[in-house]
Amino acid sequence: MSELNAALEHPTYNYKVVRQFAIMTVVWGIVGMLVGVLIAAQLAWPALNFDLPWTSFGRMRPLHTNAVIFAFGGSALFATSYYVVQRTTQARLISDKLAAFTFWGWQAVIVAAAVTLPLGMTSSKEYAELEWPIDILIAVVWVSYAIVFFGTIVKRKVSHIYVANWFFGGFIVTVAVLHIINSAAMPVDATKSYSAYAGTVDAMVQWWYGHNAVGFFLTAGFLGMMYYFVPKQAERPVYSYRLSIVHFWALVAVYIWAGPHHLHYTALPDWAQSLGMVMSIILLAPSWGGMINGMMTLSGAWHKLRTDPILRFMVVSLSFYGMSTFEGPMMSIKTVNALSHYTDWTIGHVHSGALGWVAMISIGCIYHLIPVLFGKNRMYSVELINVHFWMSTIGTVMYIASMWVNGILQGLMWRAYNEDGTLTYTFVESVVASHPGYLVRLAGGAIFFGGMLVMAYNVYMTTRKGVAEQALPAGSAQGSHA
Ligand code: HEM
Ligand code: HEM
Repeated sequence: MSELNAALEHPTYNYKVVRQFAIMTVVWGIVGMLVGVLIAAQLAWPALNFDLPWTSFGRMRPLHTNAVIFAFGGSALFATSYYVVQRTTQARLISDKLAAFTFWGWQAVIVAAAVTLPLGMTSSKEYAELEWPIDILIAVVWVSYAIVFFGTIVKRKVSHIYVANWFFGGFIVTVAVLHIINSAAMPVDATKSYSAYAGTVDAMVQWWYGHNAVGFFLTAGFLGMMYYFVPKQAERPVYSYRLSIVHFWALVAVYIWAGPHHLHYTALPDWAQSLGMVMSIILLAPSWGGMINGMMTLSGAWHKLRTDPILRFMVVSLSFYGMSTFEGPMMSIKTVNALSHYTDWTIGHVHSGALGWVAMISIGCIYHLIPVLFGKNRMYSVELINVHFWMSTIGTVMYIASMWVNGILQGLMWRAYNEDGTLTYTFVESVVASHPGYLVRLAGGAIFFGGMLVMAYNVYMTTRKGVAEQALPAGSAQGSHA
C-alpha cells in the first residue's frame, strides 16, 4: 500500500488520507450491514441468538448501529470532507501527521467498539454506548479533525468558502459539542461509568444528542457531500447558491430544538414535548429546500440519468431524503406518534434515511472518488455500478415498505379494545403477525448487503493495477468548483 501511496502522491493535495477513509467506507459498510442482516435474521428466527451473551440481539444491535453510523458513515464523511475542503480551498490539509492521526485514531475507536460492545460494556445511552475511555479517544480525534479541517480553511488560497464546507464545518463543531456534553459521566472503573445527569434531565440531554446525531452526523455532513458531488457528477452549477445559504442557516437553527419528539408522552414537561413537535414540523421546510436545491441542480442534465448510475445513486438518495424528512415531521405529531412509537414504523423511517439517503449518497460519492484517487479514468465496470444501484434501491424499498406494514399493524393491534375494555390481541399475537414483514425486511437487507459486495469487487478491480494510468489531477478533468 505504501508503494501505491507513493506512486499516487498528489503534488498539491493530501489524497492518501482520503484514499484510506474511502476504502474503509466500503469495508465498514460491509461489516456493519452484515451485522444488520444478522440482527434482522434474529428478529425472524430468535434461535440465531445462539444462547450466547456475546451474539445476543441486545449486544449485536448497538454493534450494528455503531458500525454503520460511525464506522461506515463516519469514514465516508472524513473521506469526502478532506477531499472537498482541499479542492475547494486549493490548499493542502494543514498537517499530514494530524490527518493520519485522525485516520488511525478513528479506526482504533471502531475496533474498540467492536470488542467492547459484544462483551456487554455499555453506557446504555443509544448511539453513545461506548464507555468513557473510548469517549475520551473520540473527543481527542474529533478535536484533531476540527483542527485539520478549519486549519485548512484558514490557509485557503481562494477567499470564498464554498457552501459544502459550511455544512461539513457545522457538522464537525456540533458533533464535538454534542458528544462532549452527552458523554459527561462519573467513572467507576475502566469499563463502567454513570451518566452525569439523572432521570428526565438525562433523557432530555440524551435525545438532544440523539436527534442531533441524526441532524448533524447523518444529515448536515451528507448535505455537504450533496453540495459538492451532485454538481460535479451532473456537471452543472448548484441550482441556487442563495437557497443553499438559507438552507444552511435554517437547518442548523431549527434542528437543535427538535429532540423532544423522541420523548412524547414521557415525564418530560408537556410544553417541551410540544415545542419539539412544532420545531420538527418547521424542519420540513429547510429539509425540502435543500432536497429541492440538490434535485434542481440536474436541470438540463436529466438525460444523464439514463447513462450514469452514479448520478442515479445521488438523485435517488435525495428522493429518500425528501421522503424521510416528510415522514419524520409527521411522526413527530403527538397523535401520530401515539401510533408509531415503539413500532417498526420507526425502524422503517430510520432506514429510509439510513439506507436510502445516507448509504446511497455515500456510495455515489465513493464511486465518484475512487477513480480520481487511484488515477483512473473511471470505475472498472459501469454496468456493475448499475447492478449495485438496483440492488440498493430494491433492497431499501423492501425494507421500508415491510416496516410500514408491520408498524401500522402493530400500532393498531396494540390499541384494539373489546367492548368490555379488555385488549383484543395479546402482545405475542402481534409478534406472530409481524413475522412475514421480518422475512421481507431480511430479504431486502440481504439484497442491499449483496450490493455492497458488488461494490467491493468493482473497487478492488479499479484499484488493482495499482499505479496511475494518467496524470493524477483526474478530478480536475470533471469540471470545477475547485
Ligand atoms: C443491510 C442493511 C441493513 C440491515 C439489514 C439493517 C437492519 C437493522 C435491524 C434489524 C435493526 C434493529 C431493528 C429493531 O430493533 O427492531 C436496525 C437498527 C438500526 N439501523 Fe440498520 N440495517 C441496515 C443498514 C443500516 C444503515 C446503513 C444504517 C445507517 C447509516 C442503519 C442504521 C440503523 C439504526 C440507527 C438503527 C436503530 C434504529 C432505532 O433504534 O430506532 N442501518 N437495523
Ligand atoms: C425533518 C427531519 C426529521 C424529523 C422531524 C424526524 C422525526 C423523527 C421522529 C418523530 C422519530 C420517532 C421518535 C420516536 O417515536 O421514538 C424519529 C426517529 C428516528 N429518526 Fe427521524 N426525523 C427526520 C429525519 C431523519 C433522517 C433524515 C434520518 C436518518 C438519516 C432520521 C433518523 C432517525 C432515527 C435513527 C430515529 C430513531 C431514533 C431512536 O429511537 O433510536 N430521521 N425521527
